[in-house]
Amino acid sequence: MQFFLDTANIDQISEVRDLGLLDGVTTNPTLLSREGGDWRDQAARICALVDGPVSLEVIATSAEGMIKEAKDLISFGENVVVKIPMIPEGLKALRKLTDQGIRTNVTLVFSPAQALLAGKLGAAYVSPFVGRLDGLSQNGMEVVSQIRTIYDNYGFETRILVASVRHPMHVLDAAMIGADVATVPYATLMQLMHHPLTDKGLAAFLADWKKFQGE
Ligand code: E4P
Repeated sequence: MQFFLDTANIDQISEVRDLGLLDGVTTNPTLLSREGGDWRDQAARICALVDGPVSLEVIATSAEGMIKEAKDLISFGENVVVKIPMIPEGLKALRKLTDQGIRTNVTLVFSPAQALLAGKLGAAYVSPFVGRLDGLSQNGMEVVSQIRTIYDNYGFETRILVASVRHPMHVLDAAMIGADVATVPYATLMQLMHHPLTDKGLAAFLADWKKFQGE
């Protein structure tokens, strides 16, 4: 499974890249706005830093506007994937962008039916938002599982990008289901690697070695 980082923060991206765990990055208007400054500069820096796909989202809500913005967004780098919202105008834009060979990530997906449409229209990625579904007492991972079945049934190449990840169990469940990618906030990625028994075990090994060496 690939790990994308769900952030627009350069320090977080650099750190995860240095860990060797960075397969890509997803941004959205909220994440970019949190960083402040000129979003174009920020997007360009992210694209240059990341050796993998970087999702940048359109703001337009008409197909025509989305296509125009997509053309601008892809100028930030060869690794740009254009994020398109799962609305009827988004689907219109998606078909045209697919035909033009522009890679897309259909975002704000909350049902397997929506994912079926995105897959049929050739999206490169589909982003089911599991945390937001769980927050409404719906089962986000069940949706991911249904999407996996549908895509396997028809041999769709659209990659399932599990989004709105809230905790390590979301990542593990996504891996068990066979999702292609999880886009993970920085804090959750850090949680994945820590275990108190690892820290305790290492401290004991080092203490025993120190004693053995007569220090
Ligand atoms: C995915 O691409 C989105 O940026 C993100 O996962 C949204 O999640 P949120 O529910 O934490 O805003």
